[in-house]
Amino acid sequence: MLEGKHIIVGVTGSIAAFKAATLVRLLIKNKAQVKVVMTPLAKKFITPLTLSTLSNNPVYCDFFTPDTGEWHSHVSLGVWADLMVIAPATANTLGKMAHGIADNLLLTTFLSARCPVFAAPAMDLDMYQHPVTQKNLDVLRSLGVTLIEPAMGELASGLVGKGRMEEPEVILEKIFDFFSAESSEKNALSGKKILVTAGPTYERIDPVRFIGNFSTGKMGYALAMELAQQGAEVTLVSGPTSLDINHPLIKRISVESAAQMHKACLDIFRSCDGAILSAAVADFTPLSPSGQKVKRTRQNYSIELKPTDDIAADLGKIKEQKQFLVGFALETENEVENAQSKLKKKNLDFIVLNSLRDKGAGFATDTNKITIIDAENHTQKFELKSKQAVAKDIVNEIIRLIQ
Ligand code: CTP
Repeated sequence: MLEGKHIIVGVTGSIAAFKAATLVRLLIKNKAQVKVVMTPLAKKFITPLTLSTLSNNPVYCDFFTPDTGEWHSHVSLGVWADLMVIAPATANTLGKMAHGIADNLLLTTFLSARCPVFAAPAMDLDMYQHPVTQKNLDVLRSLGVTLIEPAMGELASGLVGKGRMEEPEVILEKIFDFFSAESSEKNALSGKKILVTAGPTYERIDPVRFIGNFSTGKMGYALAMELAQQGAEVTLVSGPTSLDINHPLIKRISVESAAQMHKACLDIFRSCDGAILSAAVADFTPLSPSGQKVKRTRQNYSIELKPTDDIAADLGKIKEQKQFLVGFALETENEVENAQSKLKKKNLDFIVLNSLRDKGAGFATDTNKITIIDAENHTQKFELKSKQAVAKDIVNEIIRLIQ
């Protein structure tokens, strides 16, 4: 079941650390390759010898071996792993993870990990319920960390309540679920060709100045990556951004202006199964940009603007029955009404609404909070999540639509 999977088990200083031994044994039994990283305090609860014997690998605790100076690279551990599971995760470690504190090898490995991260909290019930702990857990959830909720039961303190680390068998089930969902997702969109627009557009005023907006392209790039990871062939038409993207199924076409983006999309759309229009396209462009740099010696200077072509609306006009079209609406007021009217006007299958009134949503953030509204006016509200997790939700909606 877990053959070929590389799993890091992170162990922190909790009485539940003994359960890490069972978890490692279960993972090995299911043919995973396991490397264990421990915090210094965890060694007081369970020995590295036990965990290295069970995992068939050395256990990593320190940044280097004092005798030989051998460096233990958290970066290569992070790159090696397909999954990192921190069990048990103490309130202290969870708090540090939520705030980017990196004072031991487990935390630097967490920060370097490119893979999904699971954490199984273990602590006393009052510590678990404390608003600070709950806030830290919210931060971690919004960053895409999967929390394996602690169970109810008798705690080491003798108190009874929520805080006991979930049993290793249950954690193993969650790991199975994760990998089986991942492998069925991987091919859900194979053979589909999807157009994605992303980023801002720049509308030239003169050779050195432009009208732009604060879009960074993060949402569109996360969508392109998620679609490709699920097997789709993606053409990403991107306005100017500083982002990089590298996947064999993604072809990027870089454009600057709304007019260039419009042309690229109309050229491509007919050969696609659908499009997601996440770009923040300028609505207006200078009527007659100056060929030369405009000098500041001018007393008054105004720029006459004309509307740009609406890419979404133009694709909506030529959209065929078998194609889907998804748009975005970034609103500051009357959010739902505005989004519904855009959905109709542009002939979209669904629209992804984000409101600038929601903290953590919109431009230049790593998170987003969305509501999906479909053509039948069904609305689905999602909580604040990382843009990668939001991309997963949107792509899952597209898969449902196609099926
Ligand atoms: N859009 C587009 N081409 C444009 C303007 C917008 O394709 N010239 C797309 C966006 O990518 C988004 C959707 O249309 O998917 C809605 O964009 P938004 O800027 O919210 O709406 P507008 O139609 O531009 O209306 P307004 O800015 O007045 O709210």
